[in-house]
Amino acid sequence: MGEADRIFNPLPDEEDRALSKSLRPLTLDEYIGQARVKENLRVFIEAAKARGEPIDHILLCGPPGLGKTTLAMIIAREMGVNIKITSGPAIDRAGDMAAILTALEKGDILFIDEIHRLHPHVEEVLYPAMEDYCIDVVVGQGPGAKTLRVKLSPFTLIGATTRMGMLTSPLRSRFGVILRLEFYTPEELALIVKRSAAILGVEIDDGGAYEVAKRSRGTPRIANRLLKRVRDFAQVKGEGVITKEIADMALKMMEIDEAGFDSVDRKLLLAIIEHFNGGPVGIETLAVAVGEEKRTLEEVYEPYLIQEGYIKKTPRGRVATEKAYRFFGKTKLTQKSLFREES
Ligand code: ADE
Repeated sequence: MGEADRIFNPLPDEEDRALSKSLRPLTLDEYIGQARVKENLRVFIEAAKARGEPIDHILLCGPPGLGKTTLAMIIAREMGVNIKITSGPAIDRAGDMAAILTALEKGDILFIDEIHRLHPHVEEVLYPAMEDYCIDVVVGQGPGAKTLRVKLSPFTLIGATTRMGMLTSPLRSRFGVILRLEFYTPEELALIVKRSAAILGVEIDDGGAYEVAKRSRGTPRIANRLLKRVRDFAQVKGEGVITKEIADMALKMMEIDEAGFDSVDRKLLLAIIEHFNGGPVGIETLAVAVGEEKRTLEEVYEPYLIQEGYIKKTPRGRVATEKAYRFFGKTKLTQKSLFREES
């Protein structure tokens, strides 16, 4: 992966994990953006605390890098409980899930990232656990096998998913609360960048923060990565202060364009425009054309391109919009415009 590709991959890497420890907001008050989600959470947390009960099971949906894990950690802190963090693909067997659940103490939070990727056998263990705080354990084999009900401490499951549509309905229906995270506005990202800069001890002005924010694909994880690279640049080439000019120069050198697109975004859009005549083209075909996995395109790249109006999803596949053509200095030839040119 090239440097620009690494910066734009919204999935976390080792550096992010270290970085996010220091930059992660610890309370809802410190958390910038997602106003609706925060408002809801404040009510649920206050009500659960007043009743002395665990908070209801929560499903957090949205593209990677928007702060789902951070929110789960904030909820745990605000409730004053422990949090155990794991992910769908990390749990191989039903027995592993049973072991995790039986180890939880009263009120604890279990956070399962990528919950849509749980193995069906593992997922089934969650149903009675979420509904009645118990699990069914099969003891023995063959005709003598027996099912034992094991009671669990009341707990809260927080699931995170980038693919709400891939959740089975029995699992989805067991969440009391479903919250959707949206891409951040450049203004919100600029606030996040300024907060992170203060923690990192870097000086940044409003113009510098906004320049980084605009090119971060609505994603705090990307904004914080860009900030670190721009900081290096300001130290070496500038006076240590991140201004609009320094940020702009640094981002240009990193080949990060005005829209904050990386090479996969560009390849994806150009493939639809140049190889498939603007579309519609199926996602499998596109995945082969750009050399990425279908799932990565669907979960990581498409959501932002769709939200920003560069591509549209139709029943027959993906279509590049006029905005995408304009971005590359091209014109979309529609039936109408062709007719006009001919006549
Ligand atoms: N760092 C990453 N995401 C953040 C957010 N939403 N608010 C504040 N700091 C953040």
